[in-house]
Amino acid sequence: MKQKIKLFDPHIDNSERNILIKTLDSHFWASGSGVGNVEKFEILFKNYIKSKSCIAVNNGTSALNLALSLFDIKNKEVILPSLSFVSTAHAVIINGGKPIFVDVDPKTLCIDHNKIKAKISSKTKLILPVHFGGMPCNMDKIHKIAKSFNLNIVEDAAHAAGTTWKNFEKIGSHGSAVCFSFHPVKNLAMPTGGLISLNHKNHKNFRNLLLSRRWCGITNRKGTDYDVKEIGNNYYMNEFSAAIGLTQLKKLDKLNKIRKKIAKKYSREINLESKMPFDENCSYHLYWLLVENRTTFMKNMEKSGIETGIHYKPIHTMSMYSSKHELPITNSAGKKVVSIPIHPNLTKSNIDKIIKFVNKFTQ
Ligand SMILES: Cc1ncc(COP(=O)(O)O)c(C=O)c1O
Repeated sequence: MKQKIKLFDPHIDNSERNILIKTLDSHFWASGSGVGNVEKFEILFKNYIKSKSCIAVNNGTSALNLALSLFDIKNKEVILPSLSFVSTAHAVIINGGKPIFVDVDPKTLCIDHNKIKAKISSKTKLILPVHFGGMPCNMDKIHKIAKSFNLNIVEDAAHAAGTTWKNFEKIGSHGSAVCFSFHPVKNLAMPTGGLISLNHKNHKNFRNLLLSRRWCGITNRKGTDYDVKEIGNNYYMNEFSAAIGLTQLKKLDKLNKIRKKIAKKYSREINLESKMPFDENCSYHLYWLLVENRTTFMKNMEKSGIETGIHYKPIHTMSMYSSKHELPITNSAGKKVVSIPIHPNLTKSNIDKIIKFVNKFTQ
């Protein structure tokens, strides 16, 4: 039987195999012990993105929950797009805040910075942009708005490991706190993992808070003695995830280059007009199209052996979030958006096949 072309597929080689065996044999599998993969990963990722501090956690959802806990958003409002994974909005609610959804830009499906100001009120505390599919949001414009209203920016960079912004500065070096996911489908894949990068002027205090909050609120560890001053979760990253992360980080730029090359070809050879644009800064975690008759398109692709996916059903349309929202672009994109495979394991013939069938089924 012919192999299906997968929508996502992590890149693995002997470097992952070797470091996993080493970690297994070390008998130290939790964070902060033995071989110290987690600490090493935090330092190397911090150097890679050039941020002030990095704290590794067990997934991107925890990263968002913890990052938002730093900004006292209880009974305050947080501005974010609805076209994202539900964790982005859940993190606001978990921290006692209210999500205020802003529409997306039809060209990038990132938050439309031109529509942010109209949603700012006296209760607004934070802007939470999502670098959708690995495409950077317009950070200059968002920073300008944040500055003029005295707001902090927490970025959801779950899709944006290796994404750059102006002058090819890495995403992770801009916002007060920037949250990454290293879920196995992501550009930097781990079994499960996440990270918060800090650039806020209080980054040292924030770091201490996060170190405690990612481990049950435990603080002041001296020998066998310790104290707890507040509730925390068990959110730490394990040594196996960090081990894989270390090898993935070494090849991240190389793998993202392959993704960009595929994206360039898609943007040239896919005839459909409504598709993800090409941008050298984008890390292409996803490659999206907007298609009419999406269900039929996806069924046809599936029959041809090509996996596709929906990213995302807009958050404001979920039962728990549903209320009146004026989000015409999000609503329209939510019905048409579909992701096609883009990852470094695709062969030339896979890519040609994807283009051929996309063109055939979107005519
Ligand atoms: C935009 C976005 N934010 C947050 C998350 C949560 O990350 P994780 O699955 O690692 O918890 C994801 C994961 O898919 C995501 O795509």
